Amino acid sequence: MRRMTDSQLKSPLLLGVDRASSRVARLGRNYRFNNLEVDRFVADIGLASRRLISREYQQSTFRPRNTLRIPDRTEELFSDLAFYWSVGQIWSSLAQALRVSPTASIAEIGCGHVPKVAIGFHYLGVEGKVDLVDNDAIALERASRFLQLIGARFPVGVLQATLFDEGVSGYDCVFANHLLDDLILDHFCKLHGVDAAKLYEREDNYLEVWRDIIATPHLLDDFVPVLADTLVTKVRPGGVVLLLDYPSFSHRALGLTEVIGLVRKATRLLRDAIRARGGDIVTDLPAASITVDRITVTQDDIVAFRRGGANDEL
Ligand SMILES: C[S@@+](CC[C@H](N)C(=O)[O-])C[C@H]1O[C@@H](n2cnc3c(N)ncnc32)[C@H](O)[C@@H]1O
Repeated sequence: MRRMTDSQLKSPLLLGVDRASSRVARLGRNYRFNNLEVDRFVADIGLASRRLISREYQQSTFRPRNTLRIPDRTEELFSDLAFYWSVGQIWSSLAQALRVSPTASIAEIGCGHVPKVAIGFHYLGVEGKVDLVDNDAIALERASRFLQLIGARFPVGVLQATLFDEGVSGYDCVFANHLLDDLILDHFCKLHGVDAAKLYEREDNYLEVWRDIIATPHLLDDFVPVLADTLVTKVRPGGVVLLLDYPSFSHRALGLTEVIGLVRKATRLLRDAIRARGGDIVTDLPAASITVDRITVTQDDIVAFRRGGANDEL
């Protein structure tokens, strides 16, 4: 078999890039692109180049897409929906294990664009109010729209706020899916004057900051006590807090395998700090691990506690 030389391999690639850039230049003269279109294009090109250089392009999601090809579009949609369903099922199991009453008042902190906790409560058929809490207005709008689309029957509140705001308190249950890693990132960014929101726009900046975080000794020393102090005030006496951080796909895809170790360390330290503040750590979760589809959650991924005081009913 005749092996192709590097330059022979590269020539179709360079030809393709050349054609694409001439086409963009031609179109650019005829259309006024809006900021969103330009941002998306620049980000997509950046991501594609990154995958190409790191030789991860075969696993890339940048497959040839075509709006007329329903199978391609639905495959992506179904895979996202299956993931939301899995995480929702995990939250349903956790809520059942905690014996959350169907009328409990619940806050989902850092709900993001797709509120996984609320999806779990939708599957459970709860009737109590679920407040979506996030500091990002667009995420809140999408999250509440998502619940409408799936026909969630419980009343949904929307609060543009952070976990640390005093107004976010007094709930029967405060739950968060994959928030702890973001809180660690935010903590580091505040210490170093970095705009955390901007990091998500570019994978390489995000990677660089996480590498710095991992290399910073004692970062959790200040973070854990402040978070423990905050969490114990969020629910009424007898109320329950649960934070779940399973190993993230995006961290794995970016090669950030040490992040989960750091998050688990934060989880252990947080449990100790909460115990020291009179919270009862909940250990009677369903099993050593829960697996739904491709997601497995173990006790190591969870911080759950009941605030001490009267009235243990949820
Ligand atoms: C990684 S996303 C997780 C989103 C969602 N829970 C999920 O599992 O897909 C973190 C979300 O938390 C929000 N967030 C970060 N820090 C927060 C804070 N201190 N209080 C409330 N929301 C916060 C961000 O705006 C973002 O929407």
